[in-house]
Amino acid sequence: MRYAAGVDVGSTQTKAVIMQDDGHEKKMIATALVDTGANVQKAGGNGFAAACKEAGIAPEQVGYVVGTGYGRYKIQFGNTQMTEISCHARGAHFLFPNTRTVIDMGGQDSKAISIGPEGNVLDFVMNDKCAAGTGRFLGNAADVLAMSLDDMGPFSLKGKNPVKITTVCTVFVESDILSYLAQGKKAEDVLSGVNLAIARRTVSLARRVPVEPAITMTGGVSRNVGMVKALEDVLGVTLQISPLAHFAGAIGAAMYALEKVNEGSEAGNGEGAHAANRGN
Ligand SMILES: Nc1ncnc2c1ncn2[C@@H]1O[C@H](COP(=O)(O)OP(=O)(O)OP(=O)(O)O)[C@@H](O)[C@H]1O
Ligand SMILES: [Mg+2]
Repeated sequence: MRYAAGVDVGSTQTKAVIMQDDGHEKKMIATALVDTGANVQKAGGNGFAAACKEAGIAPEQVGYVVGTGYGRYKIQFGNTQMTEISCHARGAHFLFPNTRTVIDMGGQDSKAISIGPEGNVLDFVMNDKCAAGTGRFLGNAADVLAMSLDDMGPFSLKGKNPVKITTVCTVFVESDILSYLAQGKKAEDVLSGVNLAIARRTVSLARRVPVEPAITMTGGVSRNVGMVKALEDVLGVTLQISPLAHFAGAIGAAMYALEKVNEGSEAGNGEGAHAANRGN
């Protein structure tokens, strides 16, 4: 049995997955999600350890680990690192092989990736300059409304008359929200207005790469059903969203890692290269 791991150390959350190849079938056998926190290196190690535990295997049994994540910041985790763009593309292709466009919305940035039939990256565009239109922005909105992240999506779906949000700057949106509430607007209408403002911004970013169907959404914000609906309304199409969408980057990384393990064993190296430098 061969095992490989992908660890996506995001700015907000760290995702790890373990892939298994028994020679016939490639199967994902474990996932783990931990908050990244201040120590990025430690988060990678914690996520990897949690995924191994979930899989019921020892870390030493994992033949190769690919690390990814964190936009413009470099992480040093695993046997090798790959860009999150390549990993999200590969992961989205694994989840939905017909994917031609990936929209990833994470905690700190959002990106759109145009991909080929094999999951290869053709072009991409990224907004990583400010928090507007990202998970963090939505998190702030949830805080202002004293609501949990889990609740905000379903709650916003109740909004029938979305308010007009004029700014998507994190600094100003809080006062925008509060002034709407003070005017007596319903919280669900305020939240659906926030979602629509972010969706418009994200779609205009995405249009800088060709937005071809089928479109797959990845990243933690894909768990926010209100944000998903707003994106679909603005795009006019349905998005493909797997229950594992949050793990797409880690899945892509694990797919690359599995290739390395298999290359290693074909070259007669037994279970493949040893996973060194996994962080601690
Ligand atoms: N259950 C949930 N419901 C709604 N939103 C969620 C949920 N879980 C996570 N999120 C959102 O997902 C975001 C984190 O997503 P993700 O893990 O993809 O980001 P990241 O990879 O750490 O960030 P980046 O890619 O920007 O570096 C959070 O900011 C939050 O808004
Ligand atoms: Mg990410």
